[in-house]
Amino acid sequence: MTTQGQPDHLADLVIVANRLPVDRVTLPDGSAGWRRSPGGLVSALEPVMRANDGAWIGWPGSTDDLDLEPFVEDGLQLVPVHLTADEVEEFYEGFANGTLWPLYHDLVAKPEFHREWWDSYVQVNQRFAERAAEIAAKGATVWVQDYQLQLVPQMLRELRPDLRIGFYLHIPFPPAELFSQLPWRRQILEGMLGADLIGFQLAGGAANFVRLVRGRVGHKTHRDLVYLPDGRTVKAAAFPISIDAAGFIELAHTEAVQQRATEIRTALGNPRKVFLGIDRLDYTKGIYARLRAFSELIAEGLLDVEDAVFVQVATPSRERVEQYRIIRDDIDRLVGRINGDLGRIGRPAISYLHSSYPREEMAALYRAADIMVVTPYRDGMNLVAKEYVACRYDDDGALVLSEFAGAADELRQAYLVNPYDINGMKAALMEAFHAEPKETTRRMRAMRKQVVDNDVTAWANNFLAALADTRPDHDKTVRPARRR
Ligand code: G6P
Repeated sequence: MTTQGQPDHLADLVIVANRLPVDRVTLPDGSAGWRRSPGGLVSALEPVMRANDGAWIGWPGSTDDLDLEPFVEDGLQLVPVHLTADEVEEFYEGFANGTLWPLYHDLVAKPEFHREWWDSYVQVNQRFAERAAEIAAKGATVWVQDYQLQLVPQMLRELRPDLRIGFYLHIPFPPAELFSQLPWRRQILEGMLGADLIGFQLAGGAANFVRLVRGRVGHKTHRDLVYLPDGRTVKAAAFPISIDAAGFIELAHTEAVQQRATEIRTALGNPRKVFLGIDRLDYTKGIYARLRAFSELIAEGLLDVEDAVFVQVATPSRERVEQYRIIRDDIDRLVGRINGDLGRIGRPAISYLHSSYPREEMAALYRAADIMVVTPYRDGMNLVAKEYVACRYDDDGALVLSEFAGAADELRQAYLVNPYDINGMKAALMEAFHAEPKETTRRMRAMRKQVVDNDVTAWANNFLAALADTRPDHDKTVRPARRR
């Protein structure tokens, strides 16, 4: 049920993220409604929101919802922030995804620097900060998410010094040598320093940040602490994000998912081995090189289309951004060429799906796949890798994983690859293809323990506990979410 109106009370926990955790949909009666979006961040934060009766501030993902008031959906209090068409272009597609995204991902594409984009970024960040200031109760905890909103912590602190503020970056934080290209580098660092605790996926990102703060802003630092002239101390540390492992395991066990997994294999012609890639269609994900590696193995006769098929799901993403259009066309052409050259009737080498799927279908794909292939050039974490591992409850299946995905720090027993090294990837695909069950079980068992022991609830609880520790004088504390 959707209830329109003002938030019914000020919130003790406020999540501020670029996106709301729901998508706008048209209901069967023609009216507009909401559906929970399938993204990782939503499932990550929902349990702790519910445990604390929190509010979530975000953009509903379109420009035409001009008069949106706060509303309650499925028990979650949601507060929409409107973006104009110009802001979508300059703040979201521009500065967030045309400047910061490639800059933070090792310059896999060339970042563009435009002063109007920056102005829009400042303006939109200010709007999010103002909305958070309005709905946070006295002494509340506000947790700001990701690269789209790096100025919000400082803007919010100016408006509401009573708040406890956390910031978490879901994507990599680059080394100083790359970050320093950014004309607004100092403002971004100062924006983040408005938080009491700044979380990163990996210790390396936190270290990059502290080094930059020392070098570019000139604050004193010691290990993971930054000392500000106003007496505040800011901590920068790693909190590797995870998934709702229990939820995925439960889903993977359901009759419907098991049946669907069998259907998928049958539809693929019951090949000996199914390879699987599932990614947002993004140039950081290494989809093109991975498909080339697989196709070369077929062309060279090391794999046969009767024995092996590669299912690649590419979820549409940021389609109005030029670099995303280019990668889409490149992959379309590559898949067409590979299937044209190497496929047989009813046996394409690659089964390519440009579409997004609900969690149930994802779980069925994970169950149907013998070898999951995750080969980004750079990735903050990569939750798909962890989801696959969670769903392999029989400890079977193999994971081929890029060493440049954050997940590689934890999933050491994967077949680790350098995605720039096509021959190395081909060797890893073959090793996984021929691996003895004893070997894959040994690897999968260790990875499953890691994912099950460190789930997303533990991630959120750890972050919020560390945030509470940064200001022990503070009277209000957020309740941890219960683990499933
Ligand atoms: C990454 C980012 C998220 C973002 C998601 C989808 O995971 O870290 O902040 O929401 O991609 O991208 P989109 O541009 O569609 O929000």
